[in-house]
Amino acid sequence: MNAAASPSLSVDIQAPQWVRHERLKAWVAEIASLTQPDRIEWCDGSQEEYDRLCDQMVKAGTLRRLNPQKRPNSYLAWSDPSDVARVEDRTFICSQRKEDAGPTNNWTDPAEMRQTLAGLFAGCMRGRTLYVIPFSMGPLGSPIAQIGVELSDSPYVVTNMRIMTRMGRKVYDVLGADGEFVPCVHSVGAPLKPGQQDVAWPCNQTKYIVHYPETREIWSFGSGYGGNALLGKKCLALRIASSMGREEGWLAEHMLILGVTSPEGKKMHVAAAFPSACGKTNFAMMIPPAALPGWKVTTIGDDIAWIKPNAQGRLYAINPEAGYFGVAPGTNEKTNYNCMASLRENVIFTNVALTDDGDVWWEGMGPAPDHCIDWQGKDWTPDSGRKAAHPNARFTVAADQNPAIDPEWDNPAGVAIDAFIFGGRRSDTVPLVTQARNWVEGVYMAATMGSETTAAAVGQQGVVRRDPFAMLPFCGYNMSDYFQHWLELGRKLKQAGAVQPAIFCVNWFQTDEQGRFIWPGFGENMRVLKWMLERIQGGADGEENLFGISPQYQDITWDGLDFTAEQFQVITRIDPEAWNKELQLHTELFEKLQQGLPAELVQVQNRLRQQLEA
Ligand code: OXD
Ligand code: MN
Repeated sequence: MNAAASPSLSVDIQAPQWVRHERLKAWVAEIASLTQPDRIEWCDGSQEEYDRLCDQMVKAGTLRRLNPQKRPNSYLAWSDPSDVARVEDRTFICSQRKEDAGPTNNWTDPAEMRQTLAGLFAGCMRGRTLYVIPFSMGPLGSPIAQIGVELSDSPYVVTNMRIMTRMGRKVYDVLGADGEFVPCVHSVGAPLKPGQQDVAWPCNQTKYIVHYPETREIWSFGSGYGGNALLGKKCLALRIASSMGREEGWLAEHMLILGVTSPEGKKMHVAAAFPSACGKTNFAMMIPPAALPGWKVTTIGDDIAWIKPNAQGRLYAINPEAGYFGVAPGTNEKTNYNCMASLRENVIFTNVALTDDGDVWWEGMGPAPDHCIDWQGKDWTPDSGRKAAHPNARFTVAADQNPAIDPEWDNPAGVAIDAFIFGGRRSDTVPLVTQARNWVEGVYMAATMGSETTAAAVGQQGVVRRDPFAMLPFCGYNMSDYFQHWLELGRKLKQAGAVQPAIFCVNWFQTDEQGRFIWPGFGENMRVLKWMLERIQGGADGEENLFGISPQYQDITWDGLDFTAEQFQVITRIDPEAWNKELQLHTELFEKLQQGLPAELVQVQNRLRQQLEA
């Protein structure tokens, strides 16, 4: 198709000859005729394209080039203050039937939503360029990977997608003339009138992040930030992929993946789910303490795992992403050395502060500068009484800059998963670590997980909300059906005689009366990981309690750490009163999820209650 074939289109839509997919070209023409961009650019993913777009954004004021001596080839973006995080209340799962979205998702009838969006998208790219961004979630050509194509009017999205995904021309080679792809349409929702001056961070007060799971489409309007706009991440790799996984017998999870190698050279792989901003990146890049010589942790992924049974029924996982979009505040050489080392060059920072020597700073990075420019472009000094970086400020960086990258991270076959870990941010009640006695109990632990909310999403912070599997904002279908899917997968693994990964629940975040964390966290988490791996191999003891199996003080290796048996007792005890309240909260969750809730989970709860009463 070309411009002449589409009467309502004055823009040249001629695709380069390396795009051979007629259905894709027709779709681009259709979206262009709806959104009316001034230009179409077919992204090839090259360095030249990336550099050119960065230059263009520097001129437009969207990016600042950082001091090349301090932070080579790196940029800083400051977003509009109204566009700083995922907007969960504006995120919709528009399945045909409301029940299929379930009570934890916002739902609107898809026909009605299509009408609303048609109105919003009509002419919304006027004065802008429509970028065609082909990307693969997962190693190109992996049997676990999926291809998406995002049409966006944001050059910031293009450059971030190039870091976060395998993006560019090579995707068309995999797609061929008629391969399947997930169509993703994104607009910042800020058309320009002829001659109108653009702003540095265009966006719209009206926001919609919409998923149609049956037709596997994504439409996003009004935001240029993170998960709202980089549609490969939360929208495709979690919401749409979780729904694909349910239909096709695999899992799309909000999990990091790490490799851990023992001093004897035995390597295992762990997938761990934590809600947003609970230290997933730190855990995925952990450096074991010197007092545990010979242990090594390597990163496969820091946020999302796609997990499929292989021909023998064993679960294999890939990281669908190719980069990290991590939370900057709190990151420093001590909390995450590998992350800081990843950030030395080739980074896009968003909403951190700009120092006087042209570098970046955020709370928790190191000593505060005497002066800097904060994320809102204002002068800042340590006594200005406000944060220099937004609490959800981010860095975007390629995964292969991580010195602890696992040699298998890009393997299309993925890595075999030995254990799942689930952990919320809880200042009390939930013990440091507990192993589920069986798969169903593990699913129960994950399903009832609670966590204190953080700045990754707009809304109240620090309140405990139930966040089943850390998937509350990311499950693309009915949460009870999702629990069922996990239970069925466990049954299938058992029937196939395949290894069922062990399941653990952790909580690094218990606090004392002064609100200070009791467990040192970070690299010391290796001690807990070591216990888990030894449990899997049958070499570590543990004690059965109400909730599962936990280590006793002597079961953990304490070399080089001053952590007393009394402190350990505080963070591992099961307080009957607190657990009575906790079970009550599980009941409230189950009442909400009543429709389709698997009976096995209610049975686990009944057993816990009886044991507690006894
Ligand atoms: C993220 C999130 O950005 O979970 O990874 O919010
Ligand atoms: Mn996340």
